[in-house]
Amino acid sequence: MTSTDRPWWRDAVVYQIYPRSFADANNDGTGDVQGMVERLDYLQSLGVNAVWVSPWYPSPMADGGYDVADYCDISPMFGTLDDADAFLACAHERGIRVLIDLVPNHCANTHPAFRAALSAGPGSPERSLFHFRDGSGPDGAEPPTNWGSLFGGSAWERVVGPDGPEQWYLHMFAPEQPDWNWANPAVAEFFDDVIRFWFDRGVDGLRVDVADGLAKDMDYPDTPIDPETGLGQATFYPGHPWWNRPELDAIQRHWRDIADSYAERGLGERIFVCESNVKPLDALMRFVEPGRMHTTFNFDMLWCEWEAGSLRAMIDRNLVAHAAIGAPTTWVLGNHDCTRVVTRYGKPETGKPFTLAGTPPEWLHRFAEYFYPLPTDAALGRRRARAAALLEFALPGPAYIYQGEELGLPEVEDLPDEVRDDPSFFRTNGRIAGRDGCRVPLPWSGTRSPYGFGVDAEPWLPQPAAWADLSVAAQDGDPDSTLSLYRHALAIRSAHPALGDGTLAWSDEVPGHVLYFTREPGFGCLVNLSAEPVPLPGGAQVLIASGPLEDGLVPTDTAVWLDLP
Ligand code: NOJ
Repeated sequence: MTSTDRPWWRDAVVYQIYPRSFADANNDGTGDVQGMVERLDYLQSLGVNAVWVSPWYPSPMADGGYDVADYCDISPMFGTLDDADAFLACAHERGIRVLIDLVPNHCANTHPAFRAALSAGPGSPERSLFHFRDGSGPDGAEPPTNWGSLFGGSAWERVVGPDGPEQWYLHMFAPEQPDWNWANPAVAEFFDDVIRFWFDRGVDGLRVDVADGLAKDMDYPDTPIDPETGLGQATFYPGHPWWNRPELDAIQRHWRDIADSYAERGLGERIFVCESNVKPLDALMRFVEPGRMHTTFNFDMLWCEWEAGSLRAMIDRNLVAHAAIGAPTTWVLGNHDCTRVVTRYGKPETGKPFTLAGTPPEWLHRFAEYFYPLPTDAALGRRRARAAALLEFALPGPAYIYQGEELGLPEVEDLPDEVRDDPSFFRTNGRIAGRDGCRVPLPWSGTRSPYGFGVDAEPWLPQPAAWADLSVAAQDGDPDSTLSLYRHALAIRSAHPALGDGTLAWSDEVPGHVLYFTREPGFGCLVNLSAEPVPLPGGAQVLIASGPLEDGLVPTDTAVWLDLP
């Protein structure tokens, strides 16, 4: 198969836009769709093949837009459906595909269907669209099960009606995000219409939020108690009542049929990428079996420590598992949910995606994914993040860039509590730092906030005083900037016949804690993770390096792409 007849999604570079923080065209302090339209030339010059737009729907913003009040409209905060159509048209004119977020696990508590369910009362068809249950204990005053919310606290909220407290409803995330009941066929039908609404408008694909959590065990069994929280375990284990249940198979096959029907009618391809934290890898692979989803995020790279052996094992594990079923492996270094890669790699311990704030409570030792708020060496982190970007783009399969990664933006770790917005911060009494620090609006130009994000309106989250050198304008003409590195690397990636989809072969030619693989024809990628500089392989010419070489040697935490004889 040549690069021209290979499906685009098998090796696309996808740029994630978090609309609230991307570009503020109407100067109200919040990003918007018109801002996205105006920055499409930037994205084209960056060299991405597609964008994924985080939720742009009407939303009370209890969880940054992942609380959807209307699935078939655009939030007035961000613009209008006409703006969205313009964005789609302008992106497509530039050859950029558009993926948007589909949020099928839960809606906003202001969604008309949930409001109707609240007023219709127990036992009604309206309530059967959600998980309403009587409470346990005397007077039903205790939650129906011990399930814990992913954002902290119970996963059940009690309804208080005109006659006082009554049933409870399930929310795996914030109480403002009631879970849909996927055991009710009306829910599936509702989402069929939503999917078609956007596919008909020309959206090329959907990123499925919480794709592993839609189906629930309708016997509602308790989960094993975490002795330290007293709540049932919300993290995945085989047989969990809400993670990766067998019912997902039929849901995903049905969606795949809908997507395939567009290609069959000559309307172009439509695709899905799942957000899923399912483990082990074998279980995740079920999602991308033939007839199910096209791709699924693989967060292993994001979680992997910056260490040669771990990285190589992680890459191999994923390539082997995906190749066995013919699906491409996605590569992700960051997104709007985790601490930015520059900061993660600048910590004394790498390989943990989230930050704790304050004193961690005892029970959080169970959550291996959180690191303590240790000091960050930003220069070290940036050097490693640049090397990691070259590694990511050299691997076979689609690569995702979270907005601002191409600028080397660090996490904003010192946001004052009063500006924070993330429910996970509030629901853990500030013990988890939450995700605001990676969502700070982008710096485009100028020497002080709002750095061209808007004209002069104060951005919805404050930008650091030290971001002038990190703006797009500041990095634009600088050949050594992270932006130039990304542009150059993506240009090579798109032109080089060895890059994109395909296979790789490891080489041990360069000894030490080094990752070195080759791809045919004539390409090599070497990342030096050892403490000493290493030599280039024999006869290799450098195509691009993530940092300066020293006397022809590749320094520590540096990656090079090579033209091989
Ligand atoms: C995953 C999204 O990426 C995250 O931002 C959101 O809070 C949860 N799903 C719930 O929708």
